[in-house]
Amino acid sequence: MQTAAPPFDPRLLRDAFGCFATGVTIVTGRDPDGGRVGLTANSFTSVSLDPPLLLFCPSNTASALPALRASRRFAINVLDLDGEAVAQRFAMRNLDRFAEHDWIDWDGLPVLAKAKAAFACSLHADHDGGDHRIFVGKVERFGLAPERESLLYLHGRYRRVHVGG
Ligand SMILES: Cc1cc2nc3c(=O)[nH]c(=O)nc-3n(C[C@H](O)[C@H](O)[C@H](O)COP(=O)(O)O)c2cc1C
Repeated sequence: MQTAAPPFDPRLLRDAFGCFATGVTIVTGRDPDGGRVGLTANSFTSVSLDPPLLLFCPSNTASALPALRASRRFAINVLDLDGEAVAQRFAMRNLDRFAEHDWIDWDGLPVLAKAKAAFACSLHADHDGGDHRIFVGKVERFGLAPERESLLYLHGRYRRVHVGG
């Protein structure tokens, strides 16, 4: 194993973090004017069953951050194998991210109709996380589509693995 000491090469650190496989989510919410906001995020992690808590980490510079903070609500949409296009879309700028794909409304929160799973959350805690925030969400409602399979993200690329569940 190669080791590194500070100051770290950010690219190497990113590569090391990126060897941990994750799923891919779209985090959505509403701004105070009712506009929809959202971003692609792979920092989603389950935290607690009782109470039902999860976390995700928005960048301090994410355009959705002020809206999510103001409303104290967000939805996590876990993507299925067909989700690469929506993931790419929600990481792009200067376009209406919601203009494509079918969205349904969960008490004001936009939820992707074809998500593998979705969690509507209230903001339970908002912690310092360096150049990101650590948002802990309390799950108020969730849905799960057992027939769909999850999109994965590993080494900076989307991965499709058929595991049948
Ligand atoms: C696979 C993937 C995972 C990402 N995960 C995160 C994340 O966990 N947190 C975050 O703030 N941005 C994440 N991003 C970056 C945002 O989706 C991207 O910066 C997006 O443009 C949101 O920022 P903006 O609304 O300010 O443009 C990720 C992007 C990709 C493609």
